[in-house]
This record gives sequence, structure tokens and C-alpha cells, in this order.
Amino acid sequence: MLVCLCNGLSDQAIRAAAENGATCCKGVWARCGCRPDCGICGQVIRDIVADHHARPRGHAVPAVVLAPAKD
Ligand code: FES
Repeated sequence: MLVCLCNGLSDQAIRAAAENGATCCKGVWARCGCRPDCGICGQVIRDIVADHHARPRGHAVPAVVLAPAKD
């Protein structure tokens, strides 16, 4: 599911960023190599990151999904 339309970030990419240490929106964007634009996705990103960190370890996400989608 595409979450950040400005940067083409999917929920999988956000979970991969969380797996790699992101704890907030800024961390997600930084780990995905992008920056916030409109910021409207912020609450959804925070919810996904919080959900990811609330889950038991062992749900590794392939690093390949870290790259933002290109047009
Ligand atoms: S939708 Fe994510 S910064 Fe605009």
C-alpha cells in the first residue's frame, strides 16, 4: 500500500526503515533517502512505525524495499 505519495513510500518500505532503526517520520524518510514534502502521511507513518516496534522480533523485511519507488 502506498503511504507517502510525495515520495512513493509503501508500508513495506516504512516497515523496513523501522526494522533498520527508524523511530519517527524523519527517520523513515532519511533511511529511504527522501524528505517530507506535504507531510500529510506523517500520522500513518507514525502508526506503522509504532505497530512495527510493538511486534515481536523476527519479522525481518528485505532491505530491497528501502528504495523509494521511481516513476
Ligand atoms: S505524502 Fe508523504 S510527504 Fe507528502
